[in-house]
Amino acid sequence: MTFHVLTLFPEMIKQMVSHSILGRAVSSGFFSVNAVNIRDFSGNKHGQVDDAPYGGGAGMVMMAPPVYDAWASVAERKPRTIYLSPQGRTLTQSLAQELAHAPELILLCGHYEGIDERVIEEIVTDEISIGDYVLTGGEPAALVLIDAIARLLPGVLGKEASHQNESFGAELGGGLEYPHYTRPPEFRGRCVPEVLLSGHHGKIAEWRQRESAERTRLRRPDLVEQKSKD
Ligand code: ADE
Repeated sequence: MTFHVLTLFPEMIKQMVSHSILGRAVSSGFFSVNAVNIRDFSGNKHGQVDDAPYGGGAGMVMMAPPVYDAWASVAERKPRTIYLSPQGRTLTQSLAQELAHAPELILLCGHYEGIDERVIEEIVTDEISIGDYVLTGGEPAALVLIDAIARLLPGVLGKEASHQNESFGAELGGGLEYPHYTRPPEFRGRCVPEVLLSGHHGKIAEWRQRESAERTRLRRPDLVEQKSKD
């Protein structure tokens, strides 16, 4: 899978995908990230990519031509083009799973007051928000999306990784994951639940299912309600 990221800050994108699990996965060729600097397509010697809004008001608007030309430079195979914006559909695990099947995605990061609406109409196929709050730019949202998708790609988390048994996964009925413990068996008077030391796999699986259901009911009743409607 290749992510093409259209941005005014390519270093932000390159930095994050050069570390930890994502960095290793990129080095191993499990996915790649192509950060495209929109400023390279400004078409003027000052590198100007924004201008005052028609109709007046505060802030600057990113101009349509540089955004379009940056997009056209990577859009040969017409992949889905995602604009990161608080007005988009909210990112969920199932949306990340759907997008993980794409061979290529283009992510468009906005800045200033926004992007000229005409280029959004022209190139964007999906608008995605990472939550109901406003960021200064789309880059952190693009990085969240890349992380959520990349960890689902074959090889990225290693062979044993199962996405069924984690929060929002199918094995836990789309609910939250159960708690985890490791050594020591007692920490500041808090003991590891007996059943986890029992070696009884059936009982352990049952306990984990129960803990997951209880957590979901207490912390995310909205997920329980949603499931009853599905
Ligand atoms: N850009 C600014 N705020 C955003 C958000 N909440 N999600 C995605 N992109 C954004």
